[in-house]
Amino acid sequence: MKKNGVYILISFLAFLIACSDDDKKDSGVDPEIELSEDYYSGGLLGTFFPVDPSVQKPVWEHFTSSSFEQPTPAVEEAGMDLDFVYGEAFFEKQFNANISGVRHGLGPAYVRSACITCHPGYGHGKRMDRYRADDYGNGYLLVVVDEDDNYVTTLTGMPQTKAVSPFLPPIDESGINIEWKNHVDEFGNTFPDGETYSLIYPEVTIDRSAFNVPMPDVYHVKLEATIGVYGTGLIDAIPDDSIIAQYQHEKSLGYTLNDAKYQPENFIVEVDGTSHPGRYTYGLTRGTLQNGPGANAVWNITNVTRPSRTYNYMTTAYATSMSQNKDIQDALDLTEKEIYDQLMSKELPVELSEKEYVQFMIWHRGLAVPAARNLDDPTVQQGKELFAQIGCTNCHKPSWTTGPDEYTGDPLLKDKLPRYPYQKIWPYTDLLQHRLEMVNNIRTGWCRTTPLWGRGLSELCTGAGDHLHDMRARNYTEAIMWHGGDGKYAREKYRNLSKADRDAIVEFLKSI
Ligand code: HEC
Ligand code: HEC
Repeated sequence: MKKNGVYILISFLAFLIACSDDDKKDSGVDPEIELSEDYYSGGLLGTFFPVDPSVQKPVWEHFTSSSFEQPTPAVEEAGMDLDFVYGEAFFEKQFNANISGVRHGLGPAYVRSACITCHPGYGHGKRMDRYRADDYGNGYLLVVVDEDDNYVTTLTGMPQTKAVSPFLPPIDESGINIEWKNHVDEFGNTFPDGETYSLIYPEVTIDRSAFNVPMPDVYHVKLEATIGVYGTGLIDAIPDDSIIAQYQHEKSLGYTLNDAKYQPENFIVEVDGTSHPGRYTYGLTRGTLQNGPGANAVWNITNVTRPSRTYNYMTTAYATSMSQNKDIQDALDLTEKEIYDQLMSKELPVELSEKEYVQFMIWHRGLAVPAARNLDDPTVQQGKELFAQIGCTNCHKPSWTTGPDEYTGDPLLKDKLPRYPYQKIWPYTDLLQHRLEMVNNIRTGWCRTTPLWGRGLSELCTGAGDHLHDMRARNYTEAIMWHGGDGKYAREKYRNLSKADRDAIVEFLKSI
């Protein structure tokens, strides 16, 4: 994090204190500049402004490569700044295999040694030509399924390709192959006005010899890419009822939705006993931030234990195959049973302390959304109107209003994290899943509508501007042209617009 200012609250106070008519004349600026509410992507309490919004409208030039890494005004207001900085290190810095000291406890098998490897610049990852856990920006998770599309149970849900010696990784990554294939759509990749585009998608295979655990006869591999982490605290503050109402609304529009997810008996039960519909990840597998993707990742990505999880993220198949390995027995000077029991122990020593975990979650819930840019630009305004007119907003719901934000999920975190009550926020997602019916689609075909806020800053903050669940789209146009299923109607409208109008939509997407 490089702190270059959070202005909303401070400037409002400064305005109250300092703004007499004389001051206005002296300073030569009009401190009562009006920003439309959609500049405040994360609401008053959740938006990062690199300039004082009461004096200047945010434009591109104000933003730096650290714009996804800033604390919200709510963090500062609650005096949690220092904890935020301590917490940040657990995302940005590598864990190591030491048995004590700073960020120790990596392994025995692990997915990555640091979150940031997958979430470069805190953003949406990069498209990659190969799978190596140590390649910075490789935000891919391997999704390994059997012939019925179920996860292969001998591997962890997030398969590990790294291990601390003498252990072997469940998958040797040199056996993973990613091939990018060309796709020609029904329009020959050509707009009616003659402009062309190209579409590519990944096909992934893993050699059978690369597995160090037993595998079924048939298995398939897909890629799932990261999603930005900023603003996820604000998404947590949206009431469950609002999400269910959105589901019912889209049902009434005739959309095909993943109905099972909205039956209360299928809600996600959290460690504190509350239950919620899913709102995070493409698969909607997580219902709160406090027991969410990040809270889970700090354990299962690194295999670092904490007081509530004093066991490894691994499978019995892996523990069996490692404990039976003669080389590992010799290297550790332990018997098969001793190795197995150690790997499968439920009472391992704590590696990440409770205090460190709380700091990590303060950081996580404290990440601001960068303010929107250049919204007053006439082209951006035109794009905004078209985005609504052609039906993009049916799924990319522009705004939500948070509730009282009495967050749940984990009793340990109660009253310790920043909060965002009653904020109007602009994530541009309905938080529901759709089937866009693209070739070699995501597992199950159901994919949550990805929030579009901040995406325009991706290239600046992460060095890449790729999109979609496996990063197959290299720019906005490709992302839109991959929309099939219930997204087809809006895509057709987009396709038939003039080039100037299509470009205006892209300008708008970049600005939010
Ligand atoms: C192996 C690469 C990888 C690493 C390392 C990783 N993530 Fe992720 N992360 C992903 C992927 C892939 C997704 C999307 C997963 C999905 O939808 O199933 C994701 C999603 C998320 C989301 C959800 C965003 C949303 O809108 O739903 C958050 C938050 C997150 N990660 C936080 C973290 C944190 C915190 C860490 C470190 C403790 C971390 N991640 C480490 C790959 C990674
Ligand atoms: C039926 C619902 C639906 C409609 C309508 C829709 N989208 Fe999407 N959109 C999605 C879903 C779902 C995804 C995630 C798909 C994936 O990653 O495989 C997505 C992803 C995107 C992404 C990529 C986000 C990222 O960074 O990965 C962009 C950009 C986008 N949509 C723009 C648009 C535009 C512009 C329109 C109107 C022409 C539109 N969408 C209409 C559901 C929809």
